[in-house]
Formats: sequence, C-alpha cells, structure tokens
Amino acid sequence: MAINQAKFIISNTDIKKCPEPNKPEYAFIGRSNVGKSSLINMLTNNKNLAKISGRPGKTQLINHFSINNDEWYLVDLPGYGYAKVSKSLIGSFDKIIRSYILKRENLVCLFVLVDSRHEPQKKDIEFMNWLGQNGVPFVIVFTKADKLTARVLEENVSCYKKEMLKDWDSLPQVFITSSSSRQGKEELIEFIEKTNETIELG
Ligand code: GTP
Ligand code: MG
Repeated sequence: MAINQAKFIISNTDIKKCPEPNKPEYAFIGRSNVGKSSLINMLTNNKNLAKISGRPGKTQLINHFSINNDEWYLVDLPGYGYAKVSKSLIGSFDKIIRSYILKRENLVCLFVLVDSRHEPQKKDIEFMNWLGQNGVPFVIVFTKADKLTARVLEENVSCYKKEMLKDWDSLPQVFITSSSSRQGKEELIEFIEKTNETIELG
C-alpha cells in the first residue's frame, strides 16, 4: 500500500475545531526537534507538507492532514518539554496535547518519537507511563537512525527497551526510522494500514 495523496486540513489548539472524528487518526508526539514533522513529510513524500525547522519549538498547534482522500488522518503535534520556550507556553502546550490525547475519540494510536542517539529521557518515560495509566495505545518510533552506526543503534534501542521494562511487563511495538534515508517508511505505513482494517468508527 502507499500514500497517494496527502492534504493539509486545519491547525488549531481546540479539539472541538478538529475535523469530524469519523476517520482513523494517528498522531505524532515527542520532544521538540525529535523529527515529528520530518517523518510526516517522509511518509507522505512531500517535503513541504509539515513545517520543519532546526530550531526546536517549530510546531505549535494540532495540525491535521488528510491521507488518501480522507481515508485517515495524520496529526502533527507540538513537541513537549522544550526548555527554551517560556514555562507558561510549555504548560499550555502540555495542556493542549493532553486534552487532545484524552478526548480525541478517533485517535487510534499515538506514535511516540524518540531520538535514537540519546539515552532514555525521563520526560519520555514519564510521558509513556502517563499514556499507559490512561489506556492510550501507542508505539515507539526511533528517529534519526541515519546518524548512528548499525551497532550503536542496536545498543541504544536495547538500552531503551531495558529501561522501559522497569515499568512495563511487555513492550509496545517499536519502529526504527530515518527521514533522511527513508528507513522504516514501509513498516510504518503497513502498520497503519493493518490497523485501519481493524477499526470501526461510529
Ligand atoms: P518541533 O516541531 O519543534 O517539535 O520539532 P519536530 O519534532 O517536528 O522536528 P522537525 O521535523 O522539525 O526536525 C527537527 C530537525 O531535525 C530538522 O533540522 C530536521 O531536518 C532534522 N531531522 C529530522 N528527522 C531527521 C532524520 O531522520 N535524520 C536527520 N539526519 N535529521 C533529521
Ligand atoms: Mg514539528
């Protein structure tokens, strides 16, 4: 399967203004600069669809993209935990994100992005624990795999899994990706397609 068509629909901070919740929806979340917007562009073969920046804090709203003529939605979210935006802004992003995650009824699965170069970060682990406590389905997506050798990548991923197993009995599904080399593209799209087949909304 492929993504043949992707279209920007709306940006907002109010979940009431998001598109009607009648299509399966997948949202990208993670720390600022981890590569959420880049991954959306890579998956949709459109380098201009989601806005990207080397400066953390680029995405500031809930951004909806319709895929394959409204078959399903991809959502780009602001990064969490970016220290250089003001405390109050962090607070308001976190509030928006949390309310979106808990209230969006057609949200099928969250993609939690983590930078494959870094050790497990407290903020990410806490966030995933919060997802678990609230019964929100998620998978982990390692990003920027092109920046590491295969050996270091494998070491980092297994270190991450070990850390997660301190809090979890079993691990969520894991994907390894690079928006530069397009690694992981087929796997992610196939996951979404398979999941779509099991979803009935209404
Ligand atoms: P915010 O919107 O600020 O939360 O950031 P984001 O998570 O959307 O990150 P974004 O996609 O804007 O990418 C941040 C930076 O990382 C940009 O300079 C990208 O070019 C770079 N980047 C993203 N993905 C990759 C990747 O797979 N490989 C490499 N080498 N660079 C990447
Ligand atoms: Mg972004």
